[in-house]
Amino acid sequence: MVEPTDLRMSRIPLIHGAGQIPALGFGTLISDPALTITATRDALDAGFRHFDCAERYGNEREVGQALQAGLAAGNIARKDVFVTTKLWNSNHRSERVAPAFEASLARLALQYLDLYLIHTPFAFQPGDDQDPRDQNGNVLYDRDVTLLDTWKALETLVDHGKCRAIGLSDVTLDTLKPIYESARIKPAVVQVESHPYLPETELLEYCKQKGIVLLAFAPLGHGMRPGMLEDPIISAIAARVGKTPAQVLLAWAVQRGTAVLTTPKSAARARESFNISPLPQAALDEINRIQTRQRLNQVVNTGVPGFIPKRA
Ligand SMILES: NC(=O)c1ccc[n+]([C@@H]2O[C@H](COP(=O)([O-])OP(=O)(O)OC[C@H]3O[C@@H](n4cnc5c(N)ncnc54)[C@H](OP(=O)(O)O)[C@@H]3O)[C@@H](O)[C@H]2O)c1
Repeated sequence: MVEPTDLRMSRIPLIHGAGQIPALGFGTLISDPALTITATRDALDAGFRHFDCAERYGNEREVGQALQAGLAAGNIARKDVFVTTKLWNSNHRSERVAPAFEASLARLALQYLDLYLIHTPFAFQPGDDQDPRDQNGNVLYDRDVTLLDTWKALETLVDHGKCRAIGLSDVTLDTLKPIYESARIKPAVVQVESHPYLPETELLEYCKQKGIVLLAFAPLGHGMRPGMLEDPIISAIAARVGKTPAQVLLAWAVQRGTAVLTTPKSAARARESFNISPLPQAALDEINRIQTRQRLNQVVNTGVPGFIPKRA
């Protein structure tokens, strides 16, 4: 039986009865196709049941392949995993949304998605070029579609039954509020960078009030060193509770009521990152008092991602 305090199994209900999202999720932003397959299988084997994908990551096919094989080998039902993917910036026009969604679904070899997110609130010039630029290297934005137009197209996907929940990513509170207020189907999830150096407290409070799940990415600061994995407060807590700094950072994220995405790329790392347990309140308070502030991703300002794999 799963203990109620078992953070590894923690699930957060989504609004409108759209299911429950496992709090601890595996992110698939991995540049190498073969590594995508092994890391996804390792994550499933370690116990992860939440998989975060994106058309922009260029590896939905590999993730789909690994999930199919892993579900069959582990006798795991589709309903027991939660799969998200994201609409890229060059597909914001209403008429491009359903084809982009169907293409992702086909690459992932799935019949439905648990969650579909608008990857960023920035519309790029529509087309197959995911990174359209002018001759000076400036991004070509699309001024003829609003975020609300795109949101309405996502609502239609929910109506048609192949997508259980919809949400946004890389938004600020100022961008989220008008969509929330106008939406017929409210955003269930908002995915943003968040960690002790970027707690996004105001956004989290708003999300909690409205029943939106805040899904944090870069909880380990992208694994960069120096960085949060070597923060003296995090390291001291880890030593005190007999856990690793990564486990401390992930437990903090789940205990503050967010869902969280991390990207272990080996079986050992997957087992380590899944094996989290609750921190005492004093440790949570200490982490909440950390004053360092650092945003690692500027995608929230431009729609241009920082860590996209380069593919041939
Ligand atoms: N919406 C967006 O714009 C956006 C942007 C970025 C990311 N995301 C999503 O969020 C996911 C997670 O982001 P992230 O990869 O930046 O998360 P992260 O967990 O902060 O960083 C992952 C890095 O941490 C290292 N790591 C993993 N487990 C570790 C452990 N137990 N101990 C020490 N280091 C460890 C990994 O190193 P190894 O390679 O050595 O395992 C990897 O390089 C992505 O995969 C993607 O799905 C979304």
